[in-house]
Amino acid sequence: MTKAQAEQRIKKLRAEVDRYRYQYHVLNNLEISEAALDSLKHELDQLEQEFPELITADSPTQRVAGKPLPGFRKVAHQTPLLSLNDVFSEQELQAWVERIKKLLPESEGRVLEFMAEVKMDGLAVSLVYEEGRLVTAATRGNGAVGEDVTANVRTIEAVPLRLELERLPVKFRKNIPRRIEIRGEVFMPLAQFEKLNTAQVKQGLSTFANPRNFAAGSIRQLDPRLVAKRGLSFFAYDLISDFGQNTHEEAHLIAKALGVPINPNYKVCSSISQVMEYYSHIQKLRPRLPYWIDGMVLNVNSLAAFKQLGVVGKAPRGATAFKFSAEEATTVLENIQLQVGRTGVLTPVAVLKPVLVAGTTVSRATLHNEDRINDLGVKIGDTVVIRKAGDIIPEVVKVLPKLRTGKEKAFHWPKVCPVCESPVVRKTGEAAHVCTNTVCPGRTREGFYHFAAAFDLEGVGPKIIDVLLEQGLVHQFGDFFRVTTADLDQLPRFGELSAKNIVESIQAHTRISLSHFLFALGIPQVGAETARDVAREFRTIDKVQKASREDFLTIPNIGPKVADSLVSFFADKHHQKVIIDLLKAGVKIDKEEVPVATGLCGKTFVLTGTLEQLSREEAKETILQLGGTVSGSVSARTSYVVVGEEAGSKERKAKQLGVALLTEQEFLKMIGR
Ligand code: IVH
Repeated sequence: MTKAQAEQRIKKLRAEVDRYRYQYHVLNNLEISEAALDSLKHELDQLEQEFPELITADSPTQRVAGKPLPGFRKVAHQTPLLSLNDVFSEQELQAWVERIKKLLPESEGRVLEFMAEVKMDGLAVSLVYEEGRLVTAATRGNGAVGEDVTANVRTIEAVPLRLELERLPVKFRKNIPRRIEIRGEVFMPLAQFEKLNTAQVKQGLSTFANPRNFAAGSIRQLDPRLVAKRGLSFFAYDLISDFGQNTHEEAHLIAKALGVPINPNYKVCSSISQVMEYYSHIQKLRPRLPYWIDGMVLNVNSLAAFKQLGVVGKAPRGATAFKFSAEEATTVLENIQLQVGRTGVLTPVAVLKPVLVAGTTVSRATLHNEDRINDLGVKIGDTVVIRKAGDIIPEVVKVLPKLRTGKEKAFHWPKVCPVCESPVVRKTGEAAHVCTNTVCPGRTREGFYHFAAAFDLEGVGPKIIDVLLEQGLVHQFGDFFRVTTADLDQLPRFGELSAKNIVESIQAHTRISLSHFLFALGIPQVGAETARDVAREFRTIDKVQKASREDFLTIPNIGPKVADSLVSFFADKHHQKVIIDLLKAGVKIDKEEVPVATGLCGKTFVLTGTLEQLSREEAKETILQLGGTVSGSVSARTSYVVVGEEAGSKERKAKQLGVALLTEQEFLKMIGR
């Protein structure tokens, strides 16, 4: 990006961030998610780092959030309460470490240690003790001046009213300062948040979106008796006063000795890989913690080095927040491409400037269909909000038109298929545009991808399939099972080993259940669930092929549209040949097992996180076999949420809704393993 382009973008980003700040802080009504706003701020910050000469004092990156509220006495902080810059990935972390190493003398840089600690999602409060007694507790305010919330903080049991000076380790007793300042985070434990929010509902009062807002709202209550009922808590993360401590860790231990709780989840790390390891540990821990965290904070452990690194703008150079990446982010939509699906549906796909969302880099997102494009009003070149939640395909959810430059281009739906140039139609009453050519190469290609995935042919992904099609080794599904090592060996990009592995993997998957077989055929309107219903009803492929429209209609969940699709699929001569050919090629279709009803009947499960003993697919399969159902999202109707490693929002939602949680062990027991 040129400096002129950066300047233009920065200007627009600042205006947009300011507008959202106003919505958030003044109107209490933010139009976009906080994650999307953070993403915009992050881009602004990155651009300003690239072009520091463009930083201005009024840039939103250059101030500390919040303003003192009227109603509380103002307190000037002796040392300003700073904020933290963010990193979101290992690369950004690395860049931060390299930057600070350059600023430190070589001897310091070489032995650099970091103290990694969970980042509490609450609000910063500074505690001032004189002669060991709590005299002032203040919020951050604008960083220089905060609100005096002493009376409220005194109600928080985790905050000692008197420090236990006599418990200090001997080496720190020599120089006990008269005035001691400790900073930390006030937060609302989750259990408390859930209980109070439920009570708010009962009283017809408005609820709080999250424990952070609830904690912040509570600390700003003018009546301390009300605050006392909110069950707030506190963890210290910084000691401003000098006891002769040399490291951040020592500062923590002093606070702890003095009787102020510190968070036990911290670790001193001496390499980036250790930091990354601890980060993933914290990520796994997150759903089990009884309070909200939004990442990890890294402090250069040596206080001498920390001091030497100094402060830029609002944040110390020697510390950074390694935030959990949110499920939403903003980026630029560079193009819209059309992808032809196996049923001929053209799906518009947004080609994006790569951006990190929920831990992975996203460069494509679905736009679903024409109506969605129109509803969003999206143009090529727009800045957009994208969302990626759990296993869901990333999607464009919002456009930020205020960031337009005027060069954006509207997208026009083509009249012909981008792959085969056959006419494209949109049937009245339907959202999708469809390529009218039933043998469109784009369609058949997708059909092959789908087939290989449904047959679980490991190692036979889109790239390999493209080669097999290009080389004329595969013309119809059955041909997969005729591919030999000799065929593959001679092709570019296939080593002997990979050829052997692929052929072995294919040969190991010739046996298949009827339901998987039906699904693999790619019958329009027939997804995995419908395929299973059909298979359970008819048990063998012969019977399915002979079934009439009426026969199909006797199956619950199957309506006229699906029944018609099934009948016309099996009536088609070409499809009949494909099936015969698959059997000739060695495919064996197992008679469908029909489950005997068990205790899982009528129970709905949601699976989240990684299970260790069995794959998500296997777990799902087993639940279905035992008569239960599996859903992708948690609601009040969910019976159980099975929680694996690194579970996230679904576990939190289940807790909020009071849905029963099962560990993997409990789940295995339930399914009789
Ligand atoms: S160290 C310069 N450690 O995060 C501030 N901060 O986004 C040094 N926070 O203002 C802070 N947990 O309110 C530190 N373990 C932790 C923290 C933590 C939460 C808050 C703090 C800070 C904000 C920055």
